[in-house]
Amino acid sequence: MIELLERLTQCYGPSGNEEKISHVIFNEIKDDVDEIRVDLLGNLIARKKGSGKKLMFAAHMDEIGVIVTYIDKEGFLRFSNIGGISPHFSLYQRVQFGNGTVGVIGYEEELEEMKDLKLQKMYIDIGAKTKEEAEQLVSIGDAACFMGQFHSAQNRITTKALDDRVGCYILIETIKALKGSHHPNDLYFVFTVQEEVGLRGAKTSAFSVTPDYAIAVDVTDTGDTPGSRTMALKLGKGPAIKVKDNSIITHPFVRNLMIETAKENDIAYQLEVLERGGTDSGAIHLTKGGIPSGVLSVPTRYIHSTGETADYDDITNAVKLLSAIAAK
Ligand code: CO
Ligand code: ZN
Repeated sequence: MIELLERLTQCYGPSGNEEKISHVIFNEIKDDVDEIRVDLLGNLIARKKGSGKKLMFAAHMDEIGVIVTYIDKEGFLRFSNIGGISPHFSLYQRVQFGNGTVGVIGYEEELEEMKDLKLQKMYIDIGAKTKEEAEQLVSIGDAACFMGQFHSAQNRITTKALDDRVGCYILIETIKALKGSHHPNDLYFVFTVQEEVGLRGAKTSAFSVTPDYAIAVDVTDTGDTPGSRTMALKLGKGPAIKVKDNSIITHPFVRNLMIETAKENDIAYQLEVLERGGTDSGAIHLTKGGIPSGVLSVPTRYIHSTGETADYDDITNAVKLLSAIAAK
């Protein structure tokens, strides 16, 4: 099981470049669903048929990254961000392009103050000595993801791209957990594209699926590290049922359904209010005449860094809760 999470997180897939990760997920679930298709924007939509309510579970396949804007005559690449990347988290990190080319991010000047660090003054060094050499490896508009090894110990997982391959993992494991079991609901598992650049895939897939209600699965912050911002979430205390973030106030029907199902099944959970950030449900609930939506979050430290860290118990409890909701 953990091996699948490693494969998902290590796969390349910055926003707009989800073909590889989509392929991995497709192969993982194709035999366990009744229908599977890729829509025009690239969302992967799988269905397990039922005669009752239409439910949509969503997790985004894309990850943050960088995109090449300019190649200088010495072969260094200038870049822009794909999604929310911090210059501080990026400095001296390795990045990898779709064709396997690896670069390291450097800074053009001696820094007096770390706070002056800006993406505009940073570059990617892919080992090329000239512009021509660089152009054989990358083109303007090519995207790279950050590299960050998968490590697991003491039930904690650390890797790049837990945001949101852990959500993809939870959806996949839910599909597998439902194998052979009876579920009245008509279930749609949607692996969305381009969440990190504005919840874009969620918007179009929610429109085409038009579920009775929806639950997005994604990571959220915690308040359990030295000097962290006050927040009532801790690793290992259960997946979080979102009440509010910047993109949504979750629908009371969906929120209560999640809380009640957790209680009925003795699954640990926490309640979440995230003061910044949002996720796919932010777009889903504003679709058509409005779709009651909620979010199941995996408490995660160091989000949008190469060392995103979560607790494996929270992940397995999220699978249990989602499976129980699906079967309800
Ligand atoms: Co994110
Ligand atoms: Zn996310």
